[in-house]
Amino acid sequence: MAQQMKPFPKNFLWGSASAAYQIEGAYREGGKGLSVWDQFVRIPGKTFKGTNGDVAVDHYHRYREDVDLMAKAGLKAYRFSIAWTRIFPNGNGEVNQEGLKFYDDLINDLIAHQIEPVVTIYHWDLPQALQDEYQGWESRRIIADFVNYAKTLFDNYGDRVKYWVTLNEQNVFMQHGYSMASHPPAVTDPKRMYAANHIANLANASAIKYFHEHGYQGQIGPSFAYSPIYAVDAAPENQLAADNAEQLNSYYWMDMYVFGHYPTIVRNWQEKQGIAPEITVEDQALLENPLSHPDFMGLNYYQTGTVAKNDTGVGAAAENTSGKKGTIKESGVPGMFKNVKNDYLQKTDWDWNIDPVGLQIALRRINSRYNLPVLITENGLGAFDTLEADHEIHDDYRIHFLREHVKAIHAAIDDGLQVIGYTTWSFTDLLSWLNGYQKRYGFVYVDRDEKSAKDLARYPKDSFYWYKQVIASNGEDL
Ligand code: BG6
Repeated sequence: MAQQMKPFPKNFLWGSASAAYQIEGAYREGGKGLSVWDQFVRIPGKTFKGTNGDVAVDHYHRYREDVDLMAKAGLKAYRFSIAWTRIFPNGNGEVNQEGLKFYDDLINDLIAHQIEPVVTIYHWDLPQALQDEYQGWESRRIIADFVNYAKTLFDNYGDRVKYWVTLNEQNVFMQHGYSMASHPPAVTDPKRMYAANHIANLANASAIKYFHEHGYQGQIGPSFAYSPIYAVDAAPENQLAADNAEQLNSYYWMDMYVFGHYPTIVRNWQEKQGIAPEITVEDQALLENPLSHPDFMGLNYYQTGTVAKNDTGVGAAAENTSGKKGTIKESGVPGMFKNVKNDYLQKTDWDWNIDPVGLQIALRRINSRYNLPVLITENGLGAFDTLEADHEIHDDYRIHFLREHVKAIHAAIDDGLQVIGYTTWSFTDLLSWLNGYQKRYGFVYVDRDEKSAKDLARYPKDSFYWYKQVIASNGEDL
């Protein structure tokens, strides 16, 4: 007789996620200061059809309605980010009580509905004042400001918040911000990128250390955008390229979080080009201190990558932000790897690979290398949705996508791996940083588009009812 699979843990955190800039709107209300995104979106040509988060999906004014919908879906957890500029409008200095109160009310409302708050401290919306004052992540002055901001959150919400995410996708905001110039501060300089990234590592480690040293209850860790890499075939030079990509794209960040050092191969590659960050003896002591290390790895999983050797010098390229399938351009890192098509995988309209098995592989690789529990902090399908005349949204493609990924998580749990929870991207539809409002991820449709905020009405999609049944059955009824 076939053996039964291990079940999902009883306290598994079935949830969904968001980020402040993508949902809140009210960008000048409640004493909020401006963030780098509030400015960046106004540069012509930077975002899809010039979209911005001034109104977004107006969660700031409608959070009670959104939390009610979460409760209706039976969510056990909700991951959201706090806008640094609501707490410290200038990044440091005076605390803005109105900002503190907004998140206090949100957290209380979640708890009243038995929904576990998972708080992301930083999801890319750096206070513009810190960018102006000392160039943000490029100055070590940000370390003290970041720790002070994090401490303010621990002190005010730590009695109710037990899961903290420090930095969201450091690899993404650094690469887009300092290498591809597609996020603020729109720089293309790898040396500056690695230097700023090192400072972000110090800020991350300092906040985690502070949390561990001051007796707060709960768990803390970063969320990393991990795309496991496959080699295009068994040719040894392509296998080597896959190893290069894994080291350069992923171990470079995750090794630092967990071990406190960078992989030798990447360090050596950087030194040869004169782009290695400076590491002081004090940095090393901080980074290697076990108190600076995370309690869990937050995993944002969307897709895998497939690579081959790159001896033709293919470099960075812009992403498909139009939703026109097949418009993705060739990209890579000269001498290290180039991204190639994987014939075994389907793609989304934005050319992201659809690969549920890749999620099981991601969980296994994190377990083998880092031996940490994983909280899956993002996973979802960006797609075009159609609002029918009767206000229904038949997103069977999203249900299919999520079902296969839940199966992959179940398989990883059956492998014996520790997975704490799954907060899908996203709960309501929201603003995609570079792709506008047409790329939708939510269980709840929000009636707005690029041209108009319309009435911002919320309509549960078919996937909403499907997820409700998954949660109610603790992952059995798919
Ligand atoms: C992650 C981010 O990179 O992926 C989210 O943490 C983002 O903020 C999500 O929205 C989906 O990406 P995109 O580009 O499709 O919005």
